[in-house]
Amino acid sequence: MKIISVIGARPQFIKCAPLSRELRKSHDEILVHTGQHYDPDMSDVFFKELGIPEPDHNLGIGSATQGEQTGNMLIGIEKILISEEPDMVLVYGDTNSTIAGSLAASKRHIPVSHVEAGLRSFDRTMPEEINRVVTDHISDILFCPTETAVINLGNEGITEGVYNVGDVMMDALQYNIRIAEEGSSILDDLELSPKDFMVATVHRASNTDSIENLSSIVKAFCSVDEHVVFPVHPRTKKYLIKYGLWDNLCENVSVISPVGYLDMLKLMSNSRKVLTDSGGIQKEAYMLGVPCITMRDNTEWVETVNDGWNVLVGSDCNMIMDAINGFEGSGMKGNVFGSGDACERICSVLEGSS
Ligand code: UD1
Ligand code: UDP
Repeated sequence: MKIISVIGARPQFIKCAPLSRELRKSHDEILVHTGQHYDPDMSDVFFKELGIPEPDHNLGIGSATQGEQTGNMLIGIEKILISEEPDMVLVYGDTNSTIAGSLAASKRHIPVSHVEAGLRSFDRTMPEEINRVVTDHISDILFCPTETAVINLGNEGITEGVYNVGDVMMDALQYNIRIAEEGSSILDDLELSPKDFMVATVHRASNTDSIENLSSIVKAFCSVDEHVVFPVHPRTKKYLIKYGLWDNLCENVSVISPVGYLDMLKLMSNSRKVLTDSGGIQKEAYMLGVPCITMRDNTEWVETVNDGWNVLVGSDCNMIMDAINGFEGSGMKGNVFGSGDACERICSVLEGSS
């Protein structure tokens, strides 16, 4: 089969690395990078360290409002679909690159496969939730990472073409964790001792775009007697500067540029706790057995909370501080994200469908 994979944002590069490797064993893959993320530390670093093939097309869309960014992607992707005539389009996750890829394909009657289908926060103020719902409803093959995702789809009447294959991020983590532990020098570079620091990330619009929420998060980081390592997403840096918070980040907070995946795995696996509003990082913390404090009011990854390894604290300063001081994370970790063979299972389903 000729498959066009559409990617564009940091988590999609990480998800695509193991699946692209597996797909190329029996299919002709054309890689389209929308250019949604473009800074070298948000894009190039992942292609280099994870051995992702050079994209066949880079649309260079860049940053814009929701509508303009998605619209420009739609125009660019449609042109590629017309010239490449693929048998299938494969999209990942819940970003604007996901909805643009799935919409462009379904309007041209090209079958769509959605990796990470069925996730729901039930919060339609998130652009990601709109992207997930729409993409799932126009997809032909829905690769769910968890049983909860299958149930969510069933509740919306989607039962055809649904497969629980496990999470491709488990495949990525298993493939790279030893490489990261042995190869990353980030602990030495930052003079960190294992389990003597926390790692934090923030990029969710609900946190960055609100001065109240972002101030509250910064205040919490600064008010605890802990070393917080904070690789800052460019969106967050922009707002920290805009709100005059950039210079208020105190001595216990080490602000660094976004890091590559291998450095991130090494930081997480050696951290005491993880503080985040990222979807992927909540799962990785669970997979690594590191307690996770999620600065959101809801999560799609409910298993991490139900199993006792993740706690939702929103952006309230006191709630964040209480969790930093008191939440230890414990409990049985189930096999909820599969066993690291999601990519193989996706390829078997695709074999059967071609
Ligand atoms: C996007 C996804 C989000 C995902 C996140 C992963 C959507 C709606 N959001 O959010 O689901 O969790 O990626 O990181 O698709 N910027 C740069 N350089 C870059 C990329 C972004 O400076 O390489 C800055 C720009 O100011 C831009 C802002 O970050 O306006 C936001 O970027 P955008 O891709 O629109 O959304 P993210 O917040 O990254
Ligand atoms: N990540 C990374 N470097 C960083 C921050 C995150 O490599 O500085 C990785 C992280 O380990 C995970 C993925 O990026 O695999 C998550 O992406 P992000 O948080 O940007 O998006 P989300 O998962 O929330 O959509």
